[in-house]
Amino acid sequence: MAARSWLLLLCLAAVATTGVLQARAQPDSIGFISIDCGLPGTASYVDDTTKLTYSPDAAFIDGAGSNHNISAEYITPKLGKRYLNVRSFPDGGARSCYTLRSLEAGLKYLVRATFMYGNYDGLRRPPVFDLYVGVNFWTMVNVTAADSPLIPEAIILVPGDSLQVCLVNTGAGTPFISGLDLRPLKSTLYPQANETQGLVLLGRMNFGPTDITDIVRYPDDPHDRFWLPWVDATSWDSISTTKNVQNIDSDLFEAPSKVMQTAITPRNGSGNIEFYWDPEPQPKDPTPGYIGIMHFSELQLLPSNAVRQFYINLNGKLWYPKAFTPEYLYTDATYNSNPYRGVARYNISINATANSTLPPIINAVEVFSVISTANVGTDSQDGTANNSVKPQNLTPMSHVPTGDAYPQSSLQLENRRFTYKELEMITNNFQRVLGQGGFGKVYDGFLEDGTQVAVKLRSESSNQGVKEFLAEAQTLTRIHHKNLVSMVGYCKDGEYMALVYEYMSEGTLQEHVLGNGRNGRYLSWAQRLRIALESAQGLEYLHRGCNPPLIHRDVKGANILLNSKLEAKIADFGLTKAFNRENGTQVSTNSLVGTHGYVDPEYYATGKPTTKSDVYSFGVVVLQVVTGRPAVLRDPEPTSIIQWSRQRLARGNIEGVVDPRMRGDHDVNGVWKAADIALKCTAQSSAQRPTMTDVVAQLQECLELEEARARAGGGAANGGFYNTGGSSGSDPYSGYNGYTADGQSTDVSQSSTAFEMEHNLGRAPTMPTGPAAR
Ligand SMILES: *[C@@H]1O[C@H](CO)[C@@H](O)[C@H](O)[C@H]1NC(C)=O
Ligand SMILES: *[C@@H]1O[C@H](CO)[C@@H](O)[C@H](O)[C@H]1NC(C)=O
Ligand SMILES: *[C@@H]1O[C@H](CO)[C@@H](O)[C@H](O)[C@H]1NC(C)=O
Ligand SMILES: *[C@@H]1O[C@H](CO)[C@@H](O)[C@H](O)[C@H]1NC(C)=O
Ligand SMILES: *[C@@H]1O[C@H](CO)[C@@H](O)[C@H](O)[C@H]1NC(C)=O
Ligand SMILES: *[C@@H]1O[C@H](CO)[C@@H](O)[C@H](O)[C@H]1NC(C)=O
Ligand SMILES: *[C@@H]1O[C@H](CO)[C@@H](O)[C@H](O)[C@H]1NC(C)=O
Ligand SMILES: *[C@@H]1O[C@H](CO)[C@@H](O)[C@H](O)[C@H]1NC(C)=O
Ligand SMILES: *[C@@H]1O[C@H](CO)[C@@H](O)[C@H](O)[C@H]1NC(C)=O
Repeated sequence: MAARSWLLLLCLAAVATTGVLQARAQPDSIGFISIDCGLPGTASYVDDTTKLTYSPDAAFIDGAGSNHNISAEYITPKLGKRYLNVRSFPDGGARSCYTLRSLEAGLKYLVRATFMYGNYDGLRRPPVFDLYVGVNFWTMVNVTAADSPLIPEAIILVPGDSLQVCLVNTGAGTPFISGLDLRPLKSTLYPQANETQGLVLLGRMNFGPTDITDIVRYPDDPHDRFWLPWVDATSWDSISTTKNVQNIDSDLFEAPSKVMQTAITPRNGSGNIEFYWDPEPQPKDPTPGYIGIMHFSELQLLPSNAVRQFYINLNGKLWYPKAFTPEYLYTDATYNSNPYRGVARYNISINATANSTLPPIINAVEVFSVISTANVGTDSQDGTANNSVKPQNLTPMSHVPTGDAYPQSSLQLENRRFTYKELEMITNNFQRVLGQGGFGKVYDGFLEDGTQVAVKLRSESSNQGVKEFLAEAQTLTRIHHKNLVSMVGYCKDGEYMALVYEYMSEGTLQEHVLGNGRNGRYLSWAQRLRIALESAQGLEYLHRGCNPPLIHRDVKGANILLNSKLEAKIADFGLTKAFNRENGTQVSTNSLVGTHGYVDPEYYATGKPTTKSDVYSFGVVVLQVVTGRPAVLRDPEPTSIIQWSRQRLARGNIEGVVDPRMRGDHDVNGVWKAADIALKCTAQSSAQRPTMTDVVAQLQECLELEEARARAGGGAANGGFYNTGGSSGSDPYSGYNGYTADGQSTDVSQSSTAFEMEHNLGRAPTMPTGPAAR
């Protein structure tokens, strides 16, 4: 559920439209029909991302129904043009149809309808109605959320030259529709679709894409199927190739290369790949039959003594009758021809054979249910059609010609859903409180297998609401990085909401650097630098590794957690926002969020956070790491740590800034450098701040300096330097000098550079090399 909505956001964001043309009711050159239902007028438009042409729907219906705009509250800058309006059929009778003509008789077609309610009728009551292909029941359309489209898809063999798609009022609200697509497929594709049987999509997933937010569709897939990314870093490793993966001769599914270029293997090399789907009973089909299609290609050129061979099992029994070995850079697929009908979950497990030297892989999967299409034609050309349900809005014919959204998927992510009762057990009735945030209290807990976890339970009085809870759950189910706290599962049980995380035994960075240290221990300079570096890597991943980039919006010492090995992980994604990179502009949000002392002044002024807002907050964190002081100093009067540090550093007073609890046991050049990074990060103008990528590189150099000092017998005051020597570009200061100085910290960087020069030259390394590299 959570993953679905998030994907939706990404997908909707991909639709930007430009240009208007008058290519009315003409089929496009590749035989696609793309309709924007409820679009007034006669002008088509071209979608900027896919270059597909969208037409208004008037020519496909008989003037029935009425156009409506969705409610303004659901219009976001990212929402695709297609979703801004709908056509509804309040008095069109029981059945309202679109007729798609000039099709090629005997060809298969992918038909896709989209429904986004958006409270277009102001009733706040999303309807339930049925969808038919011709006179054959396709699926029930149960719109449960106003802001997320349903996108049913079917693959149908069309016996005649036209096809009808009909909305049937079942007395549970007025049918409406946002869009309708038709894509031709060769008649040899999807052999399970035949004259009497159609396929209805349950899920179509692309395993292990490099960009986890990238939905593959046209033009990467010439058939414009939507392949949704599926990544689960806790269970699977991704593998990929840049080489083209080819379809075999007379390929039955023609999975596109872009999808096949990525795959997953079990993270545990001796484990299995496991996933499942649940049947979705329909009122008109209580036990739907299911077809599974699994796509495989070997992506690694294996040495002659290596073997990748595996079994594919469904509910513990062999699904594919023999051991399977994928071909190098060719697509291959396993599938069932006759549908399975069961009432329980379908568990897929892919395990290596005893002879295999390599773990199993899988590149993509499609799951369909089957429907009868015995009467798919329209009455105009198929005498067998059920004339008692003759379409009411039969029209004179027209043809026509994206980036909108993606189909609903029922394939489940691995995150566990807990009941409130289970949480009570796990936490021993919420006995031990680990901490408290805006969301509520965080409790200590143990899973059945003894794994320690932290349970963040939303309190009734929480000022962080359902929205933040969902935002965090959605973000964490999709993104995985060693420096972002990982989610074990969640609970949404009636009024109770909780998130269950990995346990971070050393608490927050805040506790360690402020006050009296944690458990009376202080972090050394090397430990502080490592924590800063790891936190920076987590943020860099949000900014660079995610598309669109994510902005954390509440970076601070209290949101950096430490595990027993003092490894740092960014936590608290309740305020995280996607950043619209396509458009190059910021997300606009109506509420300014963040924590006093950490908020970017530019964000404060404009209300628009950017990735540089996180950089600013992170700069404050680095200053705290250096100084051991709070973000806002109270004595003698409230002063920001930035101003406080800047003043001292400008006078060259590093010792007046550095945390005395480190007892001088640090490389002073490294401290200067770190302080300088922090000041660059907190430049007034966001343009002058470095990116998190720059920050990671600079902190890495600081850490190397400190480690070099330790190796050279450092620890003593004025510990010697040593140069890594040999390796190219090893001058630890070159990157530093390469920083563009911003107005505010120019003085500081000049003085620190001078300082380094003096000391560096004065203390040439006495040993050409240090201890061997780790
Ligand atoms: C729908 O929105 C468009 C664009 O804002 C506007 O031009 C049009 O008049 C609206 N239509 C209705 C029926 O409100
Ligand atoms: C529609 O979906 C909701 C939520 O899943 C469910 O409670 C309701 O029963 C469904 N309606 C029908 C008619 O199946
Ligand atoms: C890896 O998988 C094997 C086989 O399922 C299992 O016995 C082993 O405990 C797993 N190892 C880890 C670290 O999960
Ligand atoms: C599927 O696997 C789950 C556990 O992962 C198990 O509880 C369930 O019984 C299995 N279902 C079937 C039909 O084998
Ligand atoms: C793989 O699964 C099959 C069940 O289909 C089982 O018979 C076989 O022992 C398993 N192989 C290994 C190596 O676990
Ligand atoms: C279509 O496929 C189904 C399932 O394999 C089969 O039962 C049916 O006979 C086929 N219909 C035709 C016309 O071949
Ligand atoms: C495994 O290797 C043995 C010996 O080469 C062979 O007899 C057997 O058929 C192989 N098993 C599979 C599933 O290929
Ligand atoms: C025609 O459709 C109606 C409504 O779905 C159904 O009740 C009737 O049985 C159908 N008749 C035939 C001959 O299929
Ligand atoms: C980009 O965003 C700006 C500001 O929100 C908006 O005015 C503009 O129309 C957007 N451009 C596109 C192509 O979406």
